[in-house]
Amino acid sequence: MMDKVNVDLGDRSYDILIQSGLLKAAGQVIKPFLTRPRVVVITDETVAALHLYTLGNALAQDGIEMTALALPAGEETKGWPQFTRTVEWLLDQKVERQDIVVALGGGVIGDLVGFAAAVLRRGVRFVQIPTTLLAQVDSSVGGKTGINAPQGKNLIGAFHQPSLVLIDIDILQTLPRRAFLAGYGEVVKYGLLGDADFFEWLEQNGPDMALGDTAARGAAIKRCCQMKADIVARDETEQGDRALLNLGHTFCHALEAATGYSDRLLHGEGVAIGCALATDLSARLGLCSQESPGRLRAHLRAMGMKVDLSDIPGDLPTSDKLVELMGQDKKVVAGQLRFVLLREIGDAFVTADVDPALVKAVLDDAR
Ligand code: NAD
Ligand code: GLY
Repeated sequence: MMDKVNVDLGDRSYDILIQSGLLKAAGQVIKPFLTRPRVVVITDETVAALHLYTLGNALAQDGIEMTALALPAGEETKGWPQFTRTVEWLLDQKVERQDIVVALGGGVIGDLVGFAAAVLRRGVRFVQIPTTLLAQVDSSVGGKTGINAPQGKNLIGAFHQPSLVLIDIDILQTLPRRAFLAGYGEVVKYGLLGDADFFEWLEQNGPDMALGDTAARGAAIKRCCQMKADIVARDETEQGDRALLNLGHTFCHALEAATGYSDRLLHGEGVAIGCALATDLSARLGLCSQESPGRLRAHLRAMGMKVDLSDIPGDLPTSDKLVELMGQDKKVVAGQLRFVLLREIGDAFVTADVDPALVKAVLDDAR
């Protein structure tokens, strides 16, 4: 059965369709959006080798011609050189204002292609076909698009909502376990920030999800997409509530910067560790129960995930240096660090009122 979640944004509203095997029906699903039977697809080389043929076949079945560009896989692609290449390729393909650009891939491809679609001819429509768990539950929804600058991650970009998000749960079967668990970091984030029942459900069903249980994966993806859709509909451009989605991210961004945005720490791994640290900080401030950090860590450990700073291979800078790196976070407002903290598992809020000495103490304890 196909699940549908709507992102309610007036005339820019769109559906997120979730189903096993949906890639094979991509032609049928995308056709209503087309003014001519043609789409351009941008993907990465890894995903192209695994899934582009299926997409091409599905489109051909509905008489839709496909032209594709495969970029190198990996975070390095999310910068000016591959962005320029993509935009120029789209122009060479004579993509018109009414055409649809398809992003087939993880968050790297989704962010880059979304941004290319935002600026091409002052904005063309695009469809997200997310292929990682992280992209299915987070990055493909909500219209944050962009690339990295030498000065930092995601510093160049635009809000540009997709016209459709097509989620095929089966596509995750080819995803390596490490990438799946990194995406699971974002899944846990949703339970922590707004749904205690979902967190409890994850404690029970997370291990089955990791083992490949499609029904459990589908249910979790739907819940995350629904939560994100609700938040984005309330606060599209992050003036308020949307910042809740950054739970764990102030710590995560410092850890990513400290590890050089390398394979030492994937984004979702940093989010999971960041959520544990944010829960520690909340408990230390007396905001949430003293049991909450232990409960979260027990779940992350049961999933086989990285939980503490000591799980990150190689040396890390001092806690002072990590706090300093947090100062470069996008969420800094008027020089003040902003954190998402927990009143309880399932109840988060944003605050700028945190003493950096406490943050340092939490980092020291987590070593
Ligand atoms: P990614 O796109 O680099 O994908 C991870 C790896 O998995 C890549 O090597 C890719 O080739 C491979 N892969 C993708 N799908 C696969 C599949 N089905 N089978 C086998 N291999 C597959 O990384 P990601 O974790 O998906 O996304 C991370 C990016 O998302 C970061 O750049 C981050 O900033 C961004 N992000 C954006 C938002 C947003 O709201 N826009 C939110 C969260 C994260
Ligand atoms: N991933 C954070 C957001 O979409 O706002």
